[in-house]
Amino acid sequence: MQVFDAALERLVADMLETMYAAPGVGLAGTQVDVHRQVIVMDTSADKSDPQVYINGQILEREGSEVSEEGCLSVPNVFEPVKRAARVRARAQDAKGQVFERELTGLAAVCLQHELDHLSGKLFVDYLSLLKREFIRRKLEKQRRERAAGRERPASKAGPAHPAGRVI
Ligand code: NI
Repeated sequence: MQVFDAALERLVADMLETMYAAPGVGLAGTQVDVHRQVIVMDTSADKSDPQVYINGQILEREGSEVSEEGCLSVPNVFEPVKRAARVRARAQDAKGQVFERELTGLAAVCLQHELDHLSGKLFVDYLSLLKREFIRRKLEKQRRERAAGRERPASKAGPAHPAGRVI
């Protein structure tokens, strides 16, 4: 259920702005405390292809591919995750128009990752218990450092990861 009005168009514009500023290639409503089925993403190299998926669902999945993922909700963690390599999705745009689209590569990964967000699932949930525990401790340490005003500069926070993997 979704009302397609000016408020929704504003929300989509705000989410795209937040995503580009992060910077990331995808953002789900849940991540900005909007509990509606709204996803924005742009996986183009030059940030020229903003896409919106409202009430999105995957109709078909094909193949599998492992790629490194990061997430705005799990800062500074990048881990390989296995997902369908190709998906066919159906969704509505900001005006309520239904469309179907076939996605591959990063776009396919991104949509699957964002749909997970909408159902309360994070990419780290796919990892082993041991790895999740390691990440939990790492995030706690980051939080403590932030609280103590001892945040390390990005250059010393570990190996650099392409922002293009933050979804
Ligand atoms: Ni994410």
